[in-house]
Amino acid sequence: MSGLLNGKKGVIFGALDPNSIAWKVAEKVHEQGGSFVLTNAPIAMRMGALNELAEKTSSVVIPADATSEEDLDSLFTKSMEELGGGLDFVLHSIGMSVNVRKGKPYTGLNYDWLAKGWDVSAASFHKVLQTAWKHDALNEWGSVLALSYVAAQRSFPDYSDMADNKAYLESIARSFGYHYGKRKNVRINTISQSPTRTTAGSGVKGFDGFIDYAERMSPLGNATADDCADYCVSLFSDLTRKVTMQNLFHDGGFSSMGISDAVMDMIEGASS
Ligand SMILES: NC(=O)c1ccc[n+]([C@@H]2O[C@H](COP(=O)([O-])OP(=O)(O)OC[C@H]3O[C@@H](n4cnc5c(N)ncnc54)[C@H](O)[C@@H]3O)[C@@H](O)[C@H]2O)c1
Repeated sequence: MSGLLNGKKGVIFGALDPNSIAWKVAEKVHEQGGSFVLTNAPIAMRMGALNELAEKTSSVVIPADATSEEDLDSLFTKSMEELGGGLDFVLHSIGMSVNVRKGKPYTGLNYDWLAKGWDVSAASFHKVLQTAWKHDALNEWGSVLALSYVAAQRSFPDYSDMADNKAYLESIARSFGYHYGKRKNVRINTISQSPTRTTAGSGVKGFDGFIDYAERMSPLGNATADDCADYCVSLFSDLTRKVTMQNLFHDGGFSSMGISDAVMDMIEGASS
């Protein structure tokens, strides 16, 4: 198999089921000649679907809770053993807010849940990078990506504390991007993806309305999980070696819009 990622090795976090963004990324990276270890929280393994993906992409599965430094230590050590050396790419496709899941409004957050969601959705990215740093796991010109959402810049009331977690996540890409760039020419970016029908996405209140609104606002329409996977492949490839410390909008134009004809038509239709 040969392609844009021929010979490249990596770790992919966050494939839960065939709808997951990370699942599509794994399929496309495999198509393009990359090899990788698949990982997810031990609790997600119980659902069993990941083994199916591993078989399809000739990869191994190593469970790790991305909030546990011990699990991450073991994951990076075993991944390098398994793949026979340093890594060229890492995908962090992890997010969860207990407050969102339990329908807590932003004005009535439970702070224990906030801390848990922050650890899973934002601090885990720092832990992944710091573990890779400690093990000197990333090769020269490696590429690291995490998934974000435009609620880091604009207000989306029902996204609750996930908005703050995404702002923190994006900041880690900038802060760590400096250090890893200087040390090893490793690039670190976040992709700010359109709303996408996945387990994590559908957990947000009013998701159907949300996805429809974004579709009508975006001149190119919403970016799908497959589109996102293509974009990830390009950012793992050698064609994007000087792109770093960026939050890259991958949203069909949504983030630059004020109003669209399609949304105006909808509003005027509703009020007439
Ligand atoms: N779906 C959307 O609308 C959308 C839009 C923009 C960004 N994103 C982001 O994309 C990323 C992937 O989400 P998705 O939409 O593919 O949903 P998903 O539910 O398929 O993926 C989320 C993953 O996070 C994993 N996870 C949760 N806790 C973990 C832990 N402690 N350790 C390791 N893994 C853990 C889950 O097991 C799951 O695989 C998330 O960061 C999400 O916020 C999603």
